[in-house]
Amino acid sequence: MKNTLLTILCLVSLGVNAQQNKIWDETEEEKEERMAWWTHDRFGMFIHWGTYSLAGRHEWVKKRERIDDEAYQQYFDHFNPDLYNPREWAKLAKAAGMKYAVITSKHHEGFTLFDSKYTEYKVTNTPYGKDALKEWVEAFRAEGLKIGFYYSVIDWHHPEYTIDRVHPQSAKTQEEYDELNKERDMSVYRKYLKNQVTEILTNYGKIDIIWLDYSFPGEFGKGRDDWGSIELIKLVRKLQPEIIVNDRLDLEDYWGGWDFITPEQHKVKEWPTVSGEKVPWETCQTFSGSWGYYRDEMTWKDNKQLLGLLIESVSKGGNLLLNVGPTGRGSIDYRAENALNGMGEWMKYNGRSIYGCTQAPEEFEVPDNCLLTYNPTTNRLYIHLLDYPLQNLTMLGMKGKIEYAQFLHDASEIEVTGKLKGYGKRLGLEEGEVNFVLPVNKPNVEIPVIEVFLN
Ligand code: GLC
Repeated sequence: MKNTLLTILCLVSLGVNAQQNKIWDETEEEKEERMAWWTHDRFGMFIHWGTYSLAGRHEWVKKRERIDDEAYQQYFDHFNPDLYNPREWAKLAKAAGMKYAVITSKHHEGFTLFDSKYTEYKVTNTPYGKDALKEWVEAFRAEGLKIGFYYSVIDWHHPEYTIDRVHPQSAKTQEEYDELNKERDMSVYRKYLKNQVTEILTNYGKIDIIWLDYSFPGEFGKGRDDWGSIELIKLVRKLQPEIIVNDRLDLEDYWGGWDFITPEQHKVKEWPTVSGEKVPWETCQTFSGSWGYYRDEMTWKDNKQLLGLLIESVSKGGNLLLNVGPTGRGSIDYRAENALNGMGEWMKYNGRSIYGCTQAPEEFEVPDNCLLTYNPTTNRLYIHLLDYPLQNLTMLGMKGKIEYAQFLHDASEIEVTGKLKGYGKRLGLEEGEVNFVLPVNKPNVEIPVIEVFLN
């Protein structure tokens, strides 16, 4: 009797727990289906654009230089992007092979690129005078790209947002914070947050992705209670049930609190997991060391590094969201444009090894200096040759599994043999190995790809 009671009690408490940690009533399979286009498309454009673009030295300039509202106002007063033509941006993204885009509807500075009923600190009050977000949505949609909004829950302009450790007016001691925040009321800001998220998810049609950024719990920080994260996510899902949500609201332990995780500015070692399970993921990366336009920043990644990032992400089951920071005039910097064009050139001929692809089955051993991706629908394996080999590329785990092999960029046949090409006796292969016989000259492709049709 006692035992039965105990079991019942346990079950009840488990049930309550499961209830508590569930924000969204959806099965694993339904989630996979909702995210299918995103998992397939793999490659998107991130866009950081705001009044910080005029400062031209990082979107965190207000914090980094501890600029107050009054001094920062000059960027708002001069925001007039006369060259802004989002159709051109969309064309660039598309030509690069990107399939979706995520733009900063509001970044930490608090300025909104959209017309909002709840603030005067918005694009329509700048000399530009128009709803830039609306124009952006129309342009990107017209080019067939999926639409994503980044929205910063952090706000360095709202008068009720309490000062914290990442705020430009951050302090050192509790007493200082108490003094700074005595007139501020986060609950008013929370309402504002909800109102604006409602606006962006109501006034612009179907929104495919929302990127809410970011939580920093701990001393003088902010997390789920400060944002009202649970309510916020419920609202998001109610307004746009198909939407895909990132993971920065401090709700890792909630089912439905996030859809994918977002490793930022670093390459993951392997497919990331949460509670031991592989999860959908997307790495966000910059071309150079800043998200917002940074005139004097010089650490631009080259074409091969960028392609490597994309291929490697897919080879570990993930996506890449690659950022551009348009200028204060609304154009895309020549360095970013060159980088996009370089990727587009490769993607035009090799996109098949990216779209619809994922990590290759473990039975295929990854040869040195190569990355593998695999398309489970077509049952094709893609071998990316990062460092072009001399004539022979041997691989374990492939014997008897190959129907046909070719270079992906020009569909030229690649001979698959049971021995190495060359002269002499020691040309045999190991048990289970095959050899791809390659031309001596590296094809005119940054990273050549062998497409293997599997049996
Ligand atoms: C960080 C930064 C921010 C950037 C974002 C992109 O959270 O605060 O400037 O927008 O990452 O992932």
